[in-house]
Amino acid sequence: MNILVTGGAGFIGSNFIRWMRSNAPEHRIVNVDALTYAGNLENLDGIPEGERYSFVRADIRDREKMDELFSKYDITHVVNFAAESHVDRSIVDPEVFLTTNVIGTQVLLDTAKQHWKTAPDDKYSREFRGGVKFLQVSTDEVYGALGKDGMFTETTTLSPNSPYSAAKAGADLVCRAYHETFGMPLNITRCSNNYGPYQFPEKLIPLMIHNCMTGKPLPVYGDGMQIRDWLHVSDHCSAIYTVLTCGDSGKVYNIGGNNERANIEIVKRILHAFGRDESLITYVKDRPGHDRRYAIDNTRITTTLGWAPEYTFEQGMDETISWYRTHTDWMEHVLTGEYTAYYETMYKQ
Ligand code: NAD
Ligand code: DAU
Repeated sequence: MNILVTGGAGFIGSNFIRWMRSNAPEHRIVNVDALTYAGNLENLDGIPEGERYSFVRADIRDREKMDELFSKYDITHVVNFAAESHVDRSIVDPEVFLTTNVIGTQVLLDTAKQHWKTAPDDKYSREFRGGVKFLQVSTDEVYGALGKDGMFTETTTLSPNSPYSAAKAGADLVCRAYHETFGMPLNITRCSNNYGPYQFPEKLIPLMIHNCMTGKPLPVYGDGMQIRDWLHVSDHCSAIYTVLTCGDSGKVYNIGGNNERANIEIVKRILHAFGRDESLITYVKDRPGHDRRYAIDNTRITTTLGWAPEYTFEQGMDETISWYRTHTDWMEHVLTGEYTAYYETMYKQ
């Protein structure tokens, strides 16, 4: 496979490239990333450029550049991670979420269609080259929020609540349309919350770890009783590879490991790991439109594709905390002026 990995300098994309290097090194990866505030080439330290790996700085909305990359590398697969990914930022500045997450995805789909259709200019032809696939990395947030009971299945109605999740849902619908109208071979994956190494400290777990390490207050939104379903990033990567290689074209696959935890439980676990006092917890104003609970029903991927997560939440959290403890240089480099300005604006009461 010649795989175009978009957003490969971000949290999950870089973990995916590392996972591929260890588990399926025979494939060529072309990593295209615009290097926004969330993209960091240090996440890929130790992965040399060569026949099997290339990095290209480019924007997925740049049609000409995408076309050039498909031709140059004879791209056979796309794994589209590139996105604006942080809900809080989408509340402050929604537009870039729409252009990157929806238009960027459509540009990639269109480029893939032009290169992969056997008769690209025949609008009635649904024939594609053999062995090609587009994988859209989506999120459980497109389903909206759950009450106390129930889980998201692949047939749950899309009901996104934030500009971020609305943009991701928009991209999913465009993918669906390319499959239905043109016959594009594709899958959509919808994963729950990830944690692990190289996650930008705007997200709950690395932010709380960093604040614990530096003795700063831990800002808990609302009552802290919102529930997320956590999965170690390495298990997300193995699930993506499973769907890429074995997924039934046109299908959506939910990904999750049945690890529901209330935010406050996570925050206390991190505090205790650092021997810090609970007085560091500071309840702050709730996120507008805050989804109360997410929970993934993973029956389809576990029963039809045989995927299963390897990490328990306890093991994953211990390893993650210890990774951040031993990678203080990485954290220091990430905490640029942009981060400081972001933090001050986002957490001023
Ligand atoms: P991230 O913010 O850490 O990384 C996003 C990457 O995309 C960055 O490297 C950034 O530079 C790049 N990028 C942004 N705009 C771009 C553009 N226009 N062109 C090219 N590159 C661009 O995000 P993440 O947490 O690694 O998430 C990756 C994907 O997985 C996203 O699509 C997200 O919706 C999805 N997802 C994330 C989670 C999670 O818990 N983090 C869970 C489920 C799904
Ligand atoms: O469910 C998958 C999604 O998980 C992905 O699609 C998103 O890209 C990813 O950012 C994540 O979204 P969340 O909004 O769930 O993640 P975040 O880490 O921002 O917040 C997790 C929970 O913690 C949420 O209920 C809000 C809360 N929180 C977060 C921050 C940053 C706080 O209480 N305080 C904080 O400072």
